[in-house]
Amino acid sequence: MNRSEATIYPAPPLPTGRPRLVVTGFMGTGKSTAGAVAAAALGLPFVDLDRAVERAAGRPIGEIFRRSGEAHFRRLERGLVLQAARLSGTVVATGGGAPLDADSFSELADGAVAAVLRAEPAEIARRLGGGDGRPLLDPDPPTRIRALLDARAEAYAAAGVPLDTTSMTAAEAGARLAAMYERDARPGRTEPLRLEVDTPRGSYPVLIGESVVSEWEAELDRVAPGCDRVAVVADESVDVALTDAVIRPLRHAGVAATRIPLVAGERAKSIDVVAGLWERFRAEGLDRASLVLAVGGGAIMDAAGFAAATFARGIGVVNVPTTLVGMVDAAIGGKVGIDHDGVKNLVGAFHHPRLVLVDPSLLASLPPPVMRQGLAEAVKALVLASPLALDVLIGGGPDERGLPPHLGWLIEEAVRVKAAYVSADPEDRSIRASLNLGHTFAHAVESASGFRVSHGDAVAIGLMAAANLGEATGVTPPGLAPRLGELLSGFGLPTRPPEALTADDVIAAMTADKKRRAGRPIFVVPAEGGCALLEGVEAATAAAILLEEEAPRSAPRTPVQTEATS
Ligand SMILES: NC(=O)c1ccc[n+]([C@@H]2O[C@H](COP(=O)([O-])OP(=O)(O)OC[C@H]3O[C@@H](n4cnc5c(N)ncnc54)[C@H](O)[C@@H]3O)[C@@H](O)[C@H]2O)c1
Repeated sequence: MNRSEATIYPAPPLPTGRPRLVVTGFMGTGKSTAGAVAAAALGLPFVDLDRAVERAAGRPIGEIFRRSGEAHFRRLERGLVLQAARLSGTVVATGGGAPLDADSFSELADGAVAAVLRAEPAEIARRLGGGDGRPLLDPDPPTRIRALLDARAEAYAAAGVPLDTTSMTAAEAGARLAAMYERDARPGRTEPLRLEVDTPRGSYPVLIGESVVSEWEAELDRVAPGCDRVAVVADESVDVALTDAVIRPLRHAGVAATRIPLVAGERAKSIDVVAGLWERFRAEGLDRASLVLAVGGGAIMDAAGFAAATFARGIGVVNVPTTLVGMVDAAIGGKVGIDHDGVKNLVGAFHHPRLVLVDPSLLASLPPPVMRQGLAEAVKALVLASPLALDVLIGGGPDERGLPPHLGWLIEEAVRVKAAYVSADPEDRSIRASLNLGHTFAHAVESASGFRVSHGDAVAIGLMAAANLGEATGVTPPGLAPRLGELLSGFGLPTRPPEALTADDVIAAMTADKKRRAGRPIFVVPAEGGCALLEGVEAATAAAILLEEEAPRSAPRTPVQTEATS
């Protein structure tokens, strides 16, 4: 690998999501089994941090202790506890020693429902048998159990609500944990989640939940004070009943709302369609106090948002995304625009919405190929949020509707990530470039294939190539690329470009990419705690990695700069 320069962009803090259910306590108290039972009962994803440590180290805990010592294990564990602290609405079973590291554990337990499982020492000894594979119990398990319980008593007392499992089955303990979560978690798992996105002109909320599209009346005064006219620009193929539901709160408030159906998909993003919208807005008597509601996928929000940004020098917009791309990407961030002169998104503006309503149940009617376009973007967000999130989704099959496991959770996590980057950089001048993770490769694949590979599929291929490039340059933690590949393939996404693509095609496409410095493309690759911008990588080297051809290894990197987050 040629010399390249990496600028590390640490991920910004994520907005608060739903509370976690943290399950901790001494070994043998049933954390993993009861935690998994509780997660299944609540329909929340589950992470077992001991298993995550083993996956990260590539060997069982006993062996980590024996070969590298307890301090090494604790360092790995601390890193994963901090990654888990970035996940929301997740059941997290920790290792028994996790509460001893007070600052990482308090991040994990912050805002969470935290339970400390306990059991009588004799019962613990019985459950653990001879203590095989439990290095902390050597050489005499009963004595060591008592000594460790005494030593940890204070940390466990501070770690959460005690639950004695001595005479409980795992199923009973799990049911008690689930009941504890239902009682104490706010917002509860079926209540809407509210996130704020910061912009130079103030913040706007994103509401996520199954009822938010029809129950947003309370937002109206803030979103459009004095508004008496609303244009509802809706994808013509989106169910009229949905637009009726979105409009109902307006009608109750005495606001006149007109539905303007718009041609579906990319055809909406043209100057003619936008001019048609300006004319309709004028005919309907819209003025600067009016509001545009955009109901549809990314294309509709781009076109309706651009019409709203330019009509009467800008009127307010509420986004109601109906596709996965719309929910996790296009609805949030203020970029609006149209295609022109054969160039995608050539003309546009920054025009942040005043409100975004995300209802994951609207995706039930989405054809699988359209759904796939958004899955790769959602996975990209998870890589930036916390690679531990990949473990949550790996191995889970589609649900009864054929949708990916924990889709609502995936959307919430991806929205939190997008909201965090947009808040940190509302006009895409610095750290928001992180959201281009994998996209230099993706654009090259789209373009070199003559756009036969869709954007979503290209992003999946691009993410894999970015992780491989990052591992080859020593920036990406080893082991991320295979986990990413497993997850993307599990979602039915491609991880390699089509066979027909040649290195020359790819190099030509990268050379034409507009995001370049000193004649070389810029790559965003995963890095510990965020991502890195790699400059100075030869297009030929990148093409070899993308096509999984032999690429020269060994990559001395010139100074790593760190970009401060805001
Ligand atoms: N502004 C941004 O920040 C941003 C970000 C990402 C993507 N985009 C843009 O978004 C567009 C892609 O968005 P998209 O993937 O949502 O595609 P899309 O808006 O073209 O919609 C895809 C298809 O899904 C249909 N559809 C929409 N909702 C449906 C539902 N609930 N059930 C069934 N069918 C439904 C549409 O009619 C269309 O045929 C591109 O133009 C891209 O440039 C913009």
